[in-house]
Amino acid sequence: MKTIKAKSHLEVAVHFSHANVDEMHLKDKNVVVIDVLRASTSIAMALQNGAKEIIPVNSVENAVKISGSLYGDVTLRAGERNAKMIEGFNLGNSPLEYRVDVVNGKSIILMTTNGSVAIVKGKHAKNLIVAGFINLSKVVEFLKTLKDNFTIICAGNENNFCLEDAVCAGRIINTLETVIEDELLLDDGGITCAALDKHFGKSILKMLKTSDHGRYISEIGFSEDLKVCASIDSINVLPMLAGNVLRLQKELPSNSTRKT
Ligand code: MLT
Repeated sequence: MKTIKAKSHLEVAVHFSHANVDEMHLKDKNVVVIDVLRASTSIAMALQNGAKEIIPVNSVENAVKISGSLYGDVTLRAGERNAKMIEGFNLGNSPLEYRVDVVNGKSIILMTTNGSVAIVKGKHAKNLIVAGFINLSKVVEFLKTLKDNFTIICAGNENNFCLEDAVCAGRIINTLETVIEDELLLDDGGITCAALDKHFGKSILKMLKTSDHGRYISEIGFSEDLKVCASIDSINVLPMLAGNVLRLQKELPSNSTRKT
């Protein structure tokens, strides 16, 4: 008698904000953190332009504490509050600030309202990568090689849903689906993101311009950032957490036998 082998599947879960996600929930999982506007984009830009590492933190106090005596020539404090540079810091969170002449060889301590906080929550993950439209193909390639279940954390906006992270999550899911043999088993969040990408993903820049946070950062003078953040595959790097530090991914993802 002929046995028909069931098609294996990868389970994909999506959270619309890091707010209700406990760090122990992410322990030993494969985690993708998305903060399109703007932390993911700034992190990728900094690493592409030669930053040694990014140290994400979840409070201004921790940024100051960690920088301590390191603060100076080799360490920069970066980040934002209400999308504006924090007093006493060297850099804000505009990807355009992270130029080679500014970041090359530097360790950057990064504090942002949602993005860095979401990354810190994933510190016990098996693998944690940072994703945006700017490195979409790198992210999909990683997940294809990983061949394992994964969880997407949309950094969101002030503990809530935001359109741009959800559309980016949907684009990752929809693209991955076209390049793998396995079936993707999406939770309700994943199904919603995939549909949002089909609806809003035709013009990423237009979608960013109409989103709450996109409108806000344009109003305060950062409209050029939207173009950078909308530019698909413009930054060919994959930031990956190693210990408490984000660096360029060099090795293949650590994988383990997955349950189907
Ligand atoms: C965040 O983490 O909330 C941000 O990336 C906000 C921003 O700088 O636009």
